[in-house]
Amino acid sequence: MAALLSVTGLKKAFGAVTIANDISFDVEEGEVIGIIGPNGAGKTTLFGLLAGTIKLDAGRIQFRKQDVTGLPTFDRARLGIARTYQIPRPFTHMTVADNLKVAALFGGGLEEAECPEWIDQILEFTGLAKERGMLAGRLSLLGRKRHELARALATRPSLLLIDEVAAGLTDAEVDEFISLIRSIKTAGITVVWIEHVMKAMLAATDRLMAVAGGKIIASGAPREVIQSKEVRRVYLGA
Ligand SMILES: Nc1ncnc2c1ncn2[C@@H]1O[C@H](COP(=O)(O)OP(=O)(O)OP(=O)(O)O)[C@@H](O)[C@H]1O
Ligand SMILES: [Mg+2]
Repeated sequence: MAALLSVTGLKKAFGAVTIANDISFDVEEGEVIGIIGPNGAGKTTLFGLLAGTIKLDAGRIQFRKQDVTGLPTFDRARLGIARTYQIPRPFTHMTVADNLKVAALFGGGLEEAECPEWIDQILEFTGLAKERGMLAGRLSLLGRKRHELARALATRPSLLLIDEVAAGLTDAEVDEFISLIRSIKTAGITVVWIEHVMKAMLAATDRLMAVAGGKIIASGAPREVIQSKEVRRVYLGA
């Protein structure tokens, strides 16, 4: 069976700084893949390349066997690729529910009539039902994180790219996101999750990829990747 997402020979440099140096990997349908790597390794940039907000220098991205390399973000969203942002940027003067509606209509291509029921589902699923009428700009840190995930889910993705949702949360809140991500997987959505919180990576991912120096330095079973020589060298200088 062909992979849901297939990335081949991805290259990206900002000026003289190489961010992705011939990166290739596949994401199988139904997987939760974790991505770890030191600050500045290029993890967020990789999401930009996948979502189409950053232009690649070379390489090919296939989604459901379709070449999406040259497609704009909007078209990739409509095909089912959604991402969250490390620094959320909701419409702060709109309510939580209206933010989700914008995502559903424009990112997901839902019909107006489908929205109320769909948005209720997403609010319930992400634990935001009580905040539905709140201005997005007034949400707590935890609320903002839930909302960022909810906005991506509202576009009805088949591939969800999550950029550091656990950062800055308490242990109990991290647990909440771990179970949320598991439910997302159960709902049939494939996930790629960037995170520095190793506990979350170990608990929720099927496979882990470590990136550093523009390369994938390790990939495989989460525990093995975290304990690998390459990863320990990068993190601990060992
Ligand atoms: N638009 C840009 N122009 C120039 N350099 C950039 C741009 N975006 C990112 N960079 C640089 O590219 C490198 C990779 O950044 P990126 O945000 O992808 O790292 P990251 O792995 O997500 O880091 P973190 O774990 O801190 O989020 C960094 O050195 C960053 O400063
Ligand atoms: Mg980042």
